[in-house]
Amino acid sequence: MPSLTNLTLCVPRPSSGLDPNVPVLVSSSIRVREVLANHIVIRVDRFGFSANNITYQALGEEAHYRYFDFHPAPSCLEKNVSPKMHGLVPVWGFGTVEVSKVEDVNVGERVYGYFAPARYIVVPVAPATVGKYGFLVPRPNLPADRKPYNLIQRCRTDPQYIPTSEGEDLTMLFRPLYWTAFWCDDWLNASHYRGGATKVVISSASSKTAVSLGYLVRKRFKGKGTVVGLTSKRNVGYVSGLKVFDEVVRYEDVDAMVMEQEERWIYVDVAGNDSVNGKVLEKAREGTGELVAAVNLGATTLAPGASSDEKHRLTPKISLNAPPSGSFPGSQTSVEFEPFFMPEWLAVRRTQLSIPEITSMQNAAWVELMRECPRWVRVERVYGGQEVGKSYKRVVKGRVGPEMALVWSLWDQDRDGDGTEKARL
Ligand SMILES: NC(=O)c1ccc[n+]([C@@H]2O[C@H](COP(=O)([O-])OP(=O)(O)OC[C@H]3O[C@@H](n4cnc5c(N)ncnc54)[C@H](OP(=O)(O)O)[C@@H]3O)[C@@H](O)[C@H]2O)c1
Repeated sequence: MPSLTNLTLCVPRPSSGLDPNVPVLVSSSIRVREVLANHIVIRVDRFGFSANNITYQALGEEAHYRYFDFHPAPSCLEKNVSPKMHGLVPVWGFGTVEVSKVEDVNVGERVYGYFAPARYIVVPVAPATVGKYGFLVPRPNLPADRKPYNLIQRCRTDPQYIPTSEGEDLTMLFRPLYWTAFWCDDWLNASHYRGGATKVVISSASSKTAVSLGYLVRKRFKGKGTVVGLTSKRNVGYVSGLKVFDEVVRYEDVDAMVMEQEERWIYVDVAGNDSVNGKVLEKAREGTGELVAAVNLGATTLAPGASSDEKHRLTPKISLNAPPSGSFPGSQTSVEFEPFFMPEWLAVRRTQLSIPEITSMQNAAWVELMRECPRWVRVERVYGGQEVGKSYKRVVKGRVGPEMALVWSLWDQDRDGDGTEKARL
């Protein structure tokens, strides 16, 4: 195995002046002999792609997030691609260790992690972190709370690993989004839903993150509260059909949303749409019910070429260490959005709960998700660089319906666990 032929999907950096919606495929080769000590090569078999990845791209160069700093883009003179002008959008996926220069990390191991859209990635491994459940990619240039992104999990010891193609697909699609929803519910619950809110309104209700949160909050409320999903006209049917939300309201009809007198409510914004948020805040100003928190959880409307203003609205300004409890701190005429960023809250919870406690909470929640989520989406697999490029363009044009869950591979077909190529599913 003298060299491996790689194929990588690169996107222009916002600062490059190039059109960020036009990806470039770059071929390169990895000389196996030149792989450095304490490095591994992972064959990235498949990865999920959703609005979440587009948010990573849009925030690729933002100082607080720096999503382009996880995997460097390759250099290719012929295509004018360089790490200075291009970035790699991080993706959650499954792969196999193809080359290992790390003790106790074995060739052929199935792994899950925060990879790049490529056939292969070469990453350093911190030898001291190699353990039963996984190992860490050292990224001293990034804040310490980014650890969840640096962890590469070993499938054979992962209690949440489902060793089927379908199980892997649902895992790479939902794992990052569901845990965000799970810890967001936990964060709100840490303040008893801000002193007893009984209504939670969630925008971009058709997104996997919002559906997961709606599901978890409704379960938490046990019938003693209401979860409302806000969505676009074209996605109302899909969201209503899920039966995850108690009410589904179109963005156009936000002003008609019914609030009970003195009802305390929380708004969780997953859409990041100014016009929708304006309507929601207008509702708060009406004074029927009390908006006790407005949370910024996502920004599905944030395009790869979003302006600096749009991106800066997402940058956390307050610490999650001390979520305010009780009444919303401010008048109903000046609502300030609180950002929720999962790695930061998880870092706080790691100081309050033991690892076994966190693991057992997550394992139970995972079993439940895997029971529920197959009816929420239809997985569509896309193979090969050209097809993935086309699919990317459909995503940025907003042409992928919420029921469609995309799993991409830069390979032309799947490979069985024993290494043999197999037909597409
Ligand atoms: N804070 C955190 O730690 C954290 C962690 C994970 C994810 N998130 C964020 O949560 C958001 C949701 O991600 P997801 O992967 O769950 O989304 P998804 O499943 O891909 O959801 C797609 C939905 O987004 C809305 N949308 C609006 N404009 C769109 C466009 N141009 N193209 C595609 N969809 C568009 C539509 O919903 P409607 O019609 O219902 O609006 C669409 O159905 C992302 O912004 C992500 O970054 C945040």
